[in-house]
Amino acid sequence: MRVLNHLFENNRTWAQGILQKDPDFFKVLSDQQKPEYLWIGCSDSRVPANQIIGLQPGEVFVHRNIANMVIHTDMNCLSVIQYAVDFLKVKHIIVCGHYGCGGVEGAMDSRPQGLVDNWLRHIRDIYQKYESTLDRITDRKCRSTKLCELNVIEQVSNVCHTTIVQEAWRRGQELAVHGWIYGLENGLIRDLHVCVREATELSEIYRIAVDEELQQSS
Ligand code: CO
Repeated sequence: MRVLNHLFENNRTWAQGILQKDPDFFKVLSDQQKPEYLWIGCSDSRVPANQIIGLQPGEVFVHRNIANMVIHTDMNCLSVIQYAVDFLKVKHIIVCGHYGCGGVEGAMDSRPQGLVDNWLRHIRDIYQKYESTLDRITDRKCRSTKLCELNVIEQVSNVCHTTIVQEAWRRGQELAVHGWIYGLENGLIRDLHVCVREATELSEIYRIAVDEELQQSS
């Protein structure tokens, strides 16, 4: 007997529903993908990329990991970015964090959690970078909220500093990098206004965005 039968049933129902609206949907999609967006988000089951931005299969290339991080030595994430930029020619890279992120909150907690602590170390580094500001926020939830936002801004910066994105801009490829954050409590995305479209914008926009975030918290 096949296990997880209900998931196969869900799958058949879903595929039939799509075919009823468009009999050629899967045939056309199987020939090629042309997504305009690369989504870098959290693995959290409550933040599914396609659903929350209302896109169909084929419309968004997705990479997810705990706490939506872009680490310069992470070949997995870098390979996704390179393929998306160099071959799929996506026009937008969206780093989307979310409030109440377990990864971010885990990094604020000193209790050991095993292997994942090595991954969350990167968020602890961000905390340390903004320690004086974050430590002024006495309410833990507010501090977590701020760190979730700062994490997105830092990851946008990391995306922009990759050789992949720098090279794309150098050769004149149209590519914008965005920083968004999703609210689990209302299902809405907030734009953190840290969009970068070319290398020359980077340092200035990055600095202004971080300052704005810090001013709101003080
Ligand atoms: Co998360």
